[in-house]
Amino acid sequence: MELKDAIMNRRSIRNYAKKEVPMHLIGEIMEYARFAPSAGNIQNWKFVVVTDAKKKKEIAEACLGQYWMTKAWAYIVVCNDYKKVTTLYGKEGKMFSMQDCAIIATYIMLLAAEKGIGTCWVGSFNAAELQRILSLPEEIDPEIVLTIGWPEEKKGLPQRNDITDIIFFERWGNKLAAEKPSILEKAKGLLKKEPALS
Ligand SMILES: Cc1cc2nc3c(=O)[nH]c(=O)nc-3n(C[C@H](O)[C@H](O)[C@H](O)COP(=O)(O)O)c2cc1C
Repeated sequence: MELKDAIMNRRSIRNYAKKEVPMHLIGEIMEYARFAPSAGNIQNWKFVVVTDAKKKKEIAEACLGQYWMTKAWAYIVVCNDYKKVTTLYGKEGKMFSMQDCAIIATYIMLLAAEKGIGTCWVGSFNAAELQRILSLPEEIDPEIVLTIGWPEEKKGLPQRNDITDIIFFERWGNKLAAEKPSILEKAKGLLKKEPALS
């Protein structure tokens, strides 16, 4: 599968089949995901993989009662081991460390999509509760909970803002590229040539 297909296939999946995602597939995903970039190559990420039903329910509760999560086969909790990043980069370090976690989470979601595995990023949670449930040390932040499982729903293309409304050239608000004024219009045509996902 090409990268663009994985990007177009990935949707937030909140409805999962009762079917195992073998740990070796999760291992494969993580083996590639760890090549994501990170500030100073510090790789300030650690992961807790959760499959235990009772623990999944507790975590769903800590995610402000998002009980749909319990249908997922597993959660991958992306944890932020930010200390080295803040030591090296000072004030910006915390932000860098969060960005690092966001990047690797995105890699995980795309690698999963490549295998037909569904994921959803869950960012709303009570961090202290997650810390307790997962026995995280005090200096480790839970950053993202990714649900992972075989999709039991098919989703179409989501709403996205038009490319011509989000890209400016050389200065804020300028929608035309000087040399090729129609460059974005051409890019817009790309998706129309591909069948919409159903
Ligand atoms: C930072 C962030 C936090 C999110 N938190 C939640 C969440 O707590 N619960 C949830 O169901 N989805 C959450 N999502 C998923 C978004 O709702 C979803 O990505 C968005 O609606 C676009 O849909 P798509 O992922 O299918 O393209 C989050 C996504 C991001 C990037």
